[in-house]
Amino acid sequence: SESGCLSIVVLGASGDLAKKKTFPALFHLFQQGFLQAGEVHIFGYARSNLSDDGLRERIRGYLKGASDEHLSQFLQLIKYVSGSYDSGEGFELLNNTISEYETSKNNESGSYRRLFYLALPPSVYPSVCKMIRSYCMNPSSHTGWTRVIVEKPFGKDLDSSEKLSAELGKLFEEDQLYRIDHYLGKELVQNLLVLRFANRLFLPLWNRDNIANVQIVFKEDFGTEGRGGYFDQYGIIRDIIQNHLLQVFCLVAMEKPVSLKPEHIRDEKVKVLQSVEPIKHEEVVIGQYDGYKDDPTVPDESNTPTYASVVLRVHNERWEGVPFILKAGKALNSRKAEIRVQFKDAPGDIFRCKKQGRNEFVIRLQPSEAMYMKLTVKNPGLEMATEQSELDLSYGMRYQDVKIPEAYERLILDTIRGDQQHFVRRDELRAAWEIFTPLLHDIDAGKLKSVSYEPGTRGPQEADEMSRRMGYVQTHGYIWVPPT
Ligand code: BG6
Repeated sequence: SESGCLSIVVLGASGDLAKKKTFPALFHLFQQGFLQAGEVHIFGYARSNLSDDGLRERIRGYLKGASDEHLSQFLQLIKYVSGSYDSGEGFELLNNTISEYETSKNNESGSYRRLFYLALPPSVYPSVCKMIRSYCMNPSSHTGWTRVIVEKPFGKDLDSSEKLSAELGKLFEEDQLYRIDHYLGKELVQNLLVLRFANRLFLPLWNRDNIANVQIVFKEDFGTEGRGGYFDQYGIIRDIIQNHLLQVFCLVAMEKPVSLKPEHIRDEKVKVLQSVEPIKHEEVVIGQYDGYKDDPTVPDESNTPTYASVVLRVHNERWEGVPFILKAGKALNSRKAEIRVQFKDAPGDIFRCKKQGRNEFVIRLQPSEAMYMKLTVKNPGLEMATEQSELDLSYGMRYQDVKIPEAYERLILDTIRGDQQHFVRRDELRAAWEIFTPLLHDIDAGKLKSVSYEPGTRGPQEADEMSRRMGYVQTHGYIWVPPT
């Protein structure tokens, strides 16, 4: 691994994302020895007037339960610089602070690495990136690198996203830009490639001959709480489906990459995205939970969906005719994210238990990571009866002593290591927006209306009906007894 000075700059240091995700992830990396006290320094940058200690205390509040000794050592690595997001002055000061730290280190043999994490509202990305480019790059007299992590939303539709990409593209090379989608850092999302391509069992089954439908589902049991203003501008399709669920879709549906090189993997993702057919209105259900508009920052006439179910169809040899149902909703009855691959009925069924159930392979991303396969088995006992049961790999049981890393932890470490495999490439982003932009424009223009649903439920009934229409068969655990 590389040695030398590593400066991590968190822009938007006093914001929610930084406090809840970025700093805790950095702390966990520190705790596990991936960030070494002698080598790394962390700089928080934001507009608020704060002292170093002021920022440290805020961060401490989000790291309850951490051992005091580790935590104090970690907090000592953090400095705060205050400034606006469009003033040269602030960024000059930031650069001086970084350089001061760099020159205070005896770093003759090592390199200088500068990582900028943009935990900021998207409206300031272009100006902040310009400032980084003008004032804060790793000087060319140094060896090492400058890398920038950007968070979604990457625009609101194809045009705005392309505009943002073009602006950032003028400032940084593609290998300096790390577009983060934290779903790609989740353990069971990372497992998908292994599962699909390292198991003989799945290779011949993973296609239209055997698979009836695929559902990729995200549920949250809370509403937009306090984020109504932001959320109403975007809606659930931009917030969850166009990025997180679509990334999962890519890994489920793409062809086998030539190798594990990041470019080879991302090439395949782009190809499968480009094979998605235009979305049909009759294969979309959007909903909004009752009470969403009580948020004073949400306009009374808002049609913004807090729930959506969208069918994607892949026009290629592997998937023709197989619906991929991507569903996401806020304020539902539980918090869960899972992939459900439902297989077709077994032909020539001598048990005549057709109604009873199909094989279904479920990959639960969260909570309680698990993979299980629904199978029909003989109900133990004297009758030749059948029932649905499960071949179950629950991570909590199988990997009891393993702490599964947080998505952000892993992705920040990947950035330091220069591995872009789990980050979104520019052409991939474009292809993702191409799929959803026409639908989003139609929703924005009111051509599709959100149906209302009760908070705390499964969401609109229309969505369940659509899944049934798509051929999804609910598999119940009932026992089938043969007629005597
Ligand atoms: C974010 C969305 O990207 O993901 C939030 O903006 C959502 O609306 C969150 O709550 C969900 O992430 P996770 O990891 O809790 O499933």
